[in-house]
Amino acid sequence: MSKRYGGKTAVDGVTFTVKPGVVTGFLGPNGAGKSTTIRMIMGLDAPTSGSVTVNGKAYARHPAPLREVGALPAAEVVHTGRSAYHHLLALVLTTGIPRRRVDEVLDLVGLADVARRRVGGFSLGTGQRLGVATALLGDPATLVLDEPVNGLDPQGIRWIRNLLRRLAAEGRTVFVSSHLMSEMALTAEHLVVIGKGRLIADTPVGPSRPTSAASSTSSSSATASKPSCRPAKPASSALADRPGARAGHGDRARPCVIPGSRCPGSPAHGLMWKSPMQNVLPRLNRW
Ligand SMILES: Nc1ncnc2c1ncn2[C@@H]1O[C@H](COP(=O)(O)OP(=O)(O)OP(=O)(O)O)[C@@H](O)[C@H]1O
Ligand SMILES: [Mg+2]
Repeated sequence: MSKRYGGKTAVDGVTFTVKPGVVTGFLGPNGAGKSTTIRMIMGLDAPTSGSVTVNGKAYARHPAPLREVGALPAAEVVHTGRSAYHHLLALVLTTGIPRRRVDEVLDLVGLADVARRRVGGFSLGTGQRLGVATALLGDPATLVLDEPVNGLDPQGIRWIRNLLRRLAAEGRTVFVSSHLMSEMALTAEHLVVIGKGRLIADTPVGPSRPTSAASSTSSSSATASKPSCRPAKPASSALADRPGARAGHGDRARPCVIPGSRCPGSPAHGLMWKSPMQNVLPRLNRW
């Protein structure tokens, strides 16, 4: 699909498929078109050309979209005068989601203690946790999260990493955007990379894990060449909350090579992912 705003092309002929059972990272520098793509997935913006479906249907055509797809937009829309509890309660009461889910998701995201406080007084990171709680409210099989790491402290970053991996291990489809290569190296097992609105890479990263979807013959991943990776830690141990573990740029990324893009002439061809921040991100910024 493509999206133009006046004379500006934000997304330019991007095609990819996101599969269940793994975390798929949607990586690209600022202004690459990640949020625009996610808005089109969620039906918040219409593609100028092309189309997008979630589990076979446009988002708006799902009879109970919150139960189908949980989303975290970059800018969460919340009534700031409401408490976190009442924000979630309003959503379950208007969507038929069981009321018990409110307490369940508040526990899941670690907000039980502040649930009765006004959302307007929340820090950025606490607001992000509420956004994740909102996304999980309908216990959806698909999660689309735009920059969930933004505003989180190191403990929060480790928490979201593990949560995403756990949700994927449950068989859900987890699609998460970031402009941080280092973060995606620690979280994602598949990467869709865009730059200047164009698809640059669509590839597994790190050791592949067998999943129910792994044998799927559909679309992109089935045809993407496997990256050459040195043996890396199993995902579970690499991502566990380790005593003294440092989050973000201090963590060791899995050394890996992103194979050449399927886009002819892509600047990502043969890109080495040795030291994400030093090596790859500067190149991303030039694209
Ligand atoms: N509503 C809009 N009107 C005009 N231009 C827009 C609009 N939304 C996005 N753009 C432009 O489209 C391009 C892609 O923006 P987008 O927000 O999708 O990027 P992004 O990858 O999410 O960036 P970031 O990492 O900063 O969140 C940018 O050049 C942006 O200025
Ligand atoms: Mg964005």
